[in-house]
Amino acid sequence: MQILVVGTGYVGLVQAAGLVTLGHQVAAVDIDDEKVEKLKEGEIPFYEPGLKELVEGGLHTGKLTFHIGIEDALSGMPNPDVVFVCVPTPRRADGSCDLSSVFAVAKDVGSRIEKTILCVKSTVPPGSRPQLRERLNNDQISIASNPEFLREGSAVSDFMRPDRIVIGTENEEVAEVLEQVYQGIDAPILTMSVESAQIAKYAANTMLAARLSLVNEIANIADVFDASMADVKLVLETDPRIGKAFLRSGAGFGGSCFPKDVIALSDAARREGYESKLIDPVIEVNEKQAQRFVVMIEKRIGPLHGKRLAIWGLAFNKGTDDVRESPSLRLIPLLLERGAKIVAHDPKAALNAKKELGEAIEFAEDPIKMLDGKDALLVMTEWDEYRGVHWQQVASLLSAPVVFDGKSFLDADRLALAGLSVYGIGLCKEATNGL
Ligand code: UGA
Repeated sequence: MQILVVGTGYVGLVQAAGLVTLGHQVAAVDIDDEKVEKLKEGEIPFYEPGLKELVEGGLHTGKLTFHIGIEDALSGMPNPDVVFVCVPTPRRADGSCDLSSVFAVAKDVGSRIEKTILCVKSTVPPGSRPQLRERLNNDQISIASNPEFLREGSAVSDFMRPDRIVIGTENEEVAEVLEQVYQGIDAPILTMSVESAQIAKYAANTMLAARLSLVNEIANIADVFDASMADVKLVLETDPRIGKAFLRSGAGFGGSCFPKDVIALSDAARREGYESKLIDPVIEVNEKQAQRFVVMIEKRIGPLHGKRLAIWGLAFNKGTDDVRESPSLRLIPLLLERGAKIVAHDPKAALNAKKELGEAIEFAEDPIKMLDGKDALLVMTEWDEYRGVHWQQVASLLSAPVVFDGKSFLDADRLALAGLSVYGIGLCKEATNGL
């Protein structure tokens, strides 16, 4: 099939390169000319495991082309079967979803293409279809919704092996075309109305974010009673109705999607007269978690003024260089305000963090050497390379053998055996031997 993908961010680039592996001819478009020129050379503007190889493969076979603007892409592909819209839908100051980029694409597509399917992958609120139809101003173009469920850091494998593919359409023929697009992927295809697909996307992110905030609140309460969240988690995860995933408490979740989507869902409902009681606090709880983490650190090692702290992890998630809404970047200003001195490491995100933090902290290349003489280690991103370090060496370098786990992902027993005391929200594991 001939497919146009508009937007080459995290979603669009994975979509474009992924569709090529399914055998399609793909023209990918962006308005950022510098970015497009780099993409033509196989240079990816962000880190995402496996993506570079896919893009290079597509460029090599000529199945993937990059273009500045839709007009240029259409010169080589005048009648695309499907146009996937993958442009940003950021949060406005009032919480609503800014659809201006999506509308601009619809206007462009409507005036330049006679007949196609405009399939929106960008996360857009329910109720926006009539506005989209107005911008399209072309009855030959069908509107569809195909929300993405890609996690940054594992987006390529999420594309290849999704839990489900959701297709929201205005009619059955369109659903059949979109099903063909994904032929070759082994996953259930769930077809529904455009509005149901739009709500489903918000529902999935809101459920996940709400689960994390609830887990964090339970961990906060566990702390109040000196209970162990690790034990509570064992009980929760052995109940199949609750399940094992997304039960790690800590300094809060990050990323650009959850906060934006959760607020946009409650905003969309409010505009239609439905006042949600549960949704807004999901974000309020999350934003306070970094403060709670600081209080917990102070409780364990005393006032932070003059303390030398080592931080591992600046990205909001493992496998990405994205620091947007990262818990680590929410925490660091709070530590600096209290007079702590910070040296930080991240395998991929240091450069992006530096753009945000400037000279306020020191950045280290070597995660082990940087620990020498530090008063504590804070692990803020669940990178695999942090999990498997030589903990005895860590203990011997730190001036006090104390580790704070901001994502409840470390093996606390192993650390305790190495002589390290591990603390986190709902987590307290004292060292079992003195070294
Ligand atoms: C999320 C959803 O998981 C994707 O399905 C969705 O497509 C995407 O948003 C989006 O809307 O684009 P993402 O935010 O990239 O993906 O990453 P997640 O793996 O969901 O992690 C979100 C945050 O939760 C991270 O900071 C992670 O460290 C944190 N987390 C995760 C916890 O704090 N505890 C856990 O137990 C699990």
